[in-house]
Amino acid sequence: MISRREFVVGASARIGVAGALRPLLGWRGDESVAIPGKDGMIVRSLRFLDLEMPVEYANSFITPVEHFFVRNHMHEPSTLDAAEWRLSIAGEVEKPVTLSLAELAKMPQHAVINTLECAGNGRAFAVPHVPGVQWRKGAVGTARFAGPRLREVLERAGVKSAGKHVMFRGLDEVPGKVPPFIRSIPIEKATDADTLLALQMNGTPLTKYHGFPARALVPGWIGAASCKWLTEIKLLDKEFEGNFMSPGYRMPNQPVMPGEAVKVEDTHPATILNVKSFIASPSEGATLKSRTIHVQGVAWAGEANVQKVEISTDSGATWHPAQLAKDESRYAWRLWNYSWKAPEAGDYTVLSRATDSAGRVQPDSVQWNPSGYLINVIDQLKIHVQA
Ligand code: MTE
Repeated sequence: MISRREFVVGASARIGVAGALRPLLGWRGDESVAIPGKDGMIVRSLRFLDLEMPVEYANSFITPVEHFFVRNHMHEPSTLDAAEWRLSIAGEVEKPVTLSLAELAKMPQHAVINTLECAGNGRAFAVPHVPGVQWRKGAVGTARFAGPRLREVLERAGVKSAGKHVMFRGLDEVPGKVPPFIRSIPIEKATDADTLLALQMNGTPLTKYHGFPARALVPGWIGAASCKWLTEIKLLDKEFEGNFMSPGYRMPNQPVMPGEAVKVEDTHPATILNVKSFIASPSEGATLKSRTIHVQGVAWAGEANVQKVEISTDSGATWHPAQLAKDESRYAWRLWNYSWKAPEAGDYTVLSRATDSAGRVQPDSVQWNPSGYLINVIDQLKIHVQA
C-alpha cells in the first residue's frame, strides 16, 4: 500500500528537477546528457523527451527505472500536485465518479510484470526510411507495475452495456495545434484481470517520466495503449476517434510492399506486440579475444509466451537452441543465453530468432509498413574473433 504522504513527497521531489537537463561529456559522446533519474540512455529527442535503452542494459529480468525507455509525444505536465490530482470516470456509466490518489491507493493492489514496447521500436530498420522517432532496439523494457485493477476502478462508476470502449486522456501539455494524446481500448481488454491503473513501477511510485501519479497498464499491447498521467477515463459506445487512433497507430490489413501507400480504410489499430528477440551482448562490432563466446539477450511475445530462441552463426543455415533463463511471468520477456566456440578466428554474424506459443516466428526480413510499427526482424550482430 502506498501512503498519500509518499505520493506528495514523490511529486514535489520529482517535479523540482524536471527542467534540469544539462549537457554532459559522457561515454556516448553527443548522444549523452544528464537527465535526472536516468542513466546512460540514448537521447532520440529532447523535445519531446524520447530516451532509448542501450541494448547492453537488457541483462536483467526487471529493468531498473533509470534504464527504462521514455516515449513522450508532447510536453510532460509541468505541475502535478498529488493531493490535488483527480481521476474522473464518466461517459457510458451509471454514476460518474471522481477518485483521488488516496482512494485509489486504498483499493486492492495487483502487480503485473510487463514488457512495455513502443510500437515504433525498430523503425530505424525500415527501408525505405519512414518518418518518426528512429528507434533501434531499445524502446522496450520490463517492469513490475502495481495498482488497482482497472476493472475494479470502472466498477466504482458502473459501466453501462453501451460502454464498449474505454478512453484514456493524460495531463500532457499540448503544444500549439497538436492534437491531444487520447486513445481508447476495447472493454474486453480494459476489464481483463491484468489491466491496471498503475501507481507504482518496480516498487516505488511512478516517476514523472513514466506517468506519475497514475497510468494505464495494458499488458502485452503496444506502449501507446498505456496512457501516462491519466486524468480522465470515458466509456464510449465506439472506438475513440482522434489522431492517435487514426491515422496514428494503425497497421495494414494485408502485408504491403516496401514504400507502398496504404489507405486508412485498409488498416486496423495496432494492439498486441509481436514475437521478438535481440542480442544484448557481446556488443555490435566487438573484437573478442577468446573463441568461446557467450551470447546473451532477451525475447518477448506480447500476450503469448516465448517458446524458444534459436541462434545461428552461419547466416541462418543452421539454428541451435539458446537456453531460456528461469525467470518467467506472463507478458514479461525471457532472458536467454547461448555459449558457442568459434571454429577459427575471423568475422562472424550471430543471429537470434524467437518463436512463441501462438506459432509466430521472427521473420528474416523487415515487414515494412508506412509507420514502421511492430518491426520484429531476426536480430543480427557482427563480431570479430581474434584468437
Ligand atoms: N501517455 C501520454 N499521456 N502521453 C504520451 O505521449 N506515450 C505512449 C504511452 N503513453 C504517451 C503515453 C507511448 S507511445 C509509449 S511507447 C509509452 O507511453 C511509453 O511509456 P514510458 O515512457 O513509460 O516508457
